Amino acid sequence: MNMPAWLKNAIFYEIYPQSFYDSDGDGIGDLQGIIQKLDYIAGLGCNAIWLNPCFASPFKDAGYDVSDYCKIAPRYGTNDDARMLFEEAHRRGMHVLLDLVPGHTSDRHKWFRASAKPKRNKYSDRYVWTDDAFDYPEGFRVESGLYDRNGNYLVNFFSSQPALNYGFERQDHPWQLPPDHPSCVATLEAMKDVMRFWLDMGCDGFRVDMAKSLVKNDEHQTGIRRLWQNVRDMLDREYPQAVILSEWSMAKDAVDAGFHLDFYIHFLSKGYNALFQREGYNYVERGKQIDCFFNSNGRGNIRAFTDEYMDYLAYIAGRGHMCLPTGNHDMIRYSHLRTQDEMKIVAAFIMLLPSIPFIYYGDEIGLPYAEGIPSKEGGYYRTGSRTPMQWTGGKNRGFSQTDGALYLPVDESPASPDVERQQADPQSLLNTFRRFAHLRASEEQLQAVNNLQLVWAKENEYPFVFRRGKFLVAVNPRTEAASAEVPCGKWSERARVNGGGVLEGNTLTVAGISLVVYEEEG
Ligand code: NOJ
Repeated sequence: MNMPAWLKNAIFYEIYPQSFYDSDGDGIGDLQGIIQKLDYIAGLGCNAIWLNPCFASPFKDAGYDVSDYCKIAPRYGTNDDARMLFEEAHRRGMHVLLDLVPGHTSDRHKWFRASAKPKRNKYSDRYVWTDDAFDYPEGFRVESGLYDRNGNYLVNFFSSQPALNYGFERQDHPWQLPPDHPSCVATLEAMKDVMRFWLDMGCDGFRVDMAKSLVKNDEHQTGIRRLWQNVRDMLDREYPQAVILSEWSMAKDAVDAGFHLDFYIHFLSKGYNALFQREGYNYVERGKQIDCFFNSNGRGNIRAFTDEYMDYLAYIAGRGHMCLPTGNHDMIRYSHLRTQDEMKIVAAFIMLLPSIPFIYYGDEIGLPYAEGIPSKEGGYYRTGSRTPMQWTGGKNRGFSQTDGALYLPVDESPASPDVERQQADPQSLLNTFRRFAHLRASEEQLQAVNNLQLVWAKENEYPFVFRRGKFLVAVNPRTEAASAEVPCGKWSERARVNGGGVLEGNTLTVAGISLVVYEEEG
């Protein structure tokens, strides 16, 4: 299987297009705005972008409800703007992944409109419908009574997001078609054509929404593996430099299924939360403090991360990579309940592991989580993590020149961070990201290569120390200093955040809320 070489030193930047930069003064971000900020992104040390959905949509779920897969939403620009974005990114040696939402469409998509008609047509089986409007099958979420077709349709997420039909691995009802049924095959072929459409225009691949969920009744994941391997075969044959990145959060399964990359995040894997989550993210846990490792109270357990992460790394070695983000548009921002110093060690840390770092726009300045603001476009608690980028201290924090309403409010409090101020301060969070991104870029041993060795990773103890080739990295997120035994050697300091560390013999003491990188001499 083909592994595009550009992944080895990739550092990604996630852009939520509505909130990044408004180039035409209508109060909402757009593709030309992203083009204008490409040099900023490159200057930060990022050479790849993941763009959240930018396709035509009624925006009941911020664009994860696509009504036309092959059309840029007019509020963001045109398909020509997308082509220009790909070209301008490539000119700077950057790559762009679009967001593919293959599991469901908007209920306004023309496929769904046709599918909802009582008379059988080409799209009748494009979605999953029961055979009767009074059938509420157990274990599935269905919508009923909205259309004349005699049946209920399955939804994947919100009510306006009907599930596309890729088949049922085990069929319990006559309306559950097998994945090799011509209608289910047609759904997949249509989605492959969507991928070809954007790849032909110049995009470099896709982040794939809810990648695991396409085939239903698939306990052993045989159906979903077959499906993505089919897609991967197509890519390897037709677009060998293209990349697919799954929202699966179980790298072993995702890579087995054919993904090049999988997000190491807050769903199926346990380690992400054990590292970073200060507060529960779902409706049961929200508001509850979590003792993650990157918590100054020092009550985290690094082993809850390393045991899982090392296992995944070994399993996927040579076949795929994990992606480790500062956050994303679904999580409460990592700045929530953290100081700038605490964020700085997270910034450096994600740049020093073998997984591929992702910076969620705004996290490089510690953009705050806007707690309690009204929900926008299906955001609910997530809305607070989707507010506009703050570029300056000026009008609308430099996000937009409009005198009218913004997509979401900016934070007008004077202390709230902005890019301009942080660029001018060598010790800022922004410059910490930049420094460590450049360190990663300049040292192959710190990139996505399989050389992670644990040195000090003890149950409920601080610091955490690891090696990457000739580099030794130690991080201590708790307030008190913490010591570890490290291998004998001639170590010279290469980089530090906050207080750094002191080496005496082979005892390394890392100051509170600090990180240090040593390089072995000779
Ligand atoms: C995951 C996306 O990240 C999220 O924002 C979206 O609401 C759901 N999938 C549904 O597509």
